[in-house]
Amino acid sequence: MALLPIIIAPDQRLKVKTKLVEVVDDGLRTFMDDMLETMYAANGIGLAAPQVGDVRSIIVVDVARAQKEPQPMQIINPEIVWTSDTKHAHEEGCLSLPKNYIEVIRPEIIHLKYLDRLGHERELEASGILATCIQHEMDHLQGILFVDYVSIVKRSMIFRKLKKAKKQAME
Ligand code: NI
Repeated sequence: MALLPIIIAPDQRLKVKTKLVEVVDDGLRTFMDDMLETMYAANGIGLAAPQVGDVRSIIVVDVARAQKEPQPMQIINPEIVWTSDTKHAHEEGCLSLPKNYIEVIRPEIIHLKYLDRLGHERELEASGILATCIQHEMDHLQGILFVDYVSIVKRSMIFRKLKKAKKQAME
């Protein structure tokens, strides 16, 4: 397994719309294992393929709390087929926007269709933090970042800070 470099915003590669996976094979499974390893190493609870420069429709998630059994999920071609009318506000972070936390309001419960790591069709009902996390990661597959939900002024401020931090890191 290998750690993949995580792309930090602002970056055009985070704006891509991903393509559906057509074949689930060993190469893909290795890539998804690398995604999970990268996510755990960065202390994240979710990661989407564009964050590591890949344009396929893949997310990985594990919302199990520390000290509990890990619950890794590898989700291919996710599609939300139902959302609850009730909404849920949750403070979100993102590995591509380190140290930024913003409250985002999303549907509380979702029904999801996807392919698992064997390429089998699966369905899932998710609520609470799992629903939030899956929706956040699925936004990445459409080139949407959680800062796209705040005002352009606040977003520009966050991007300016991130650019500055990136520049400093390269010096
Ligand atoms: Ni994110």
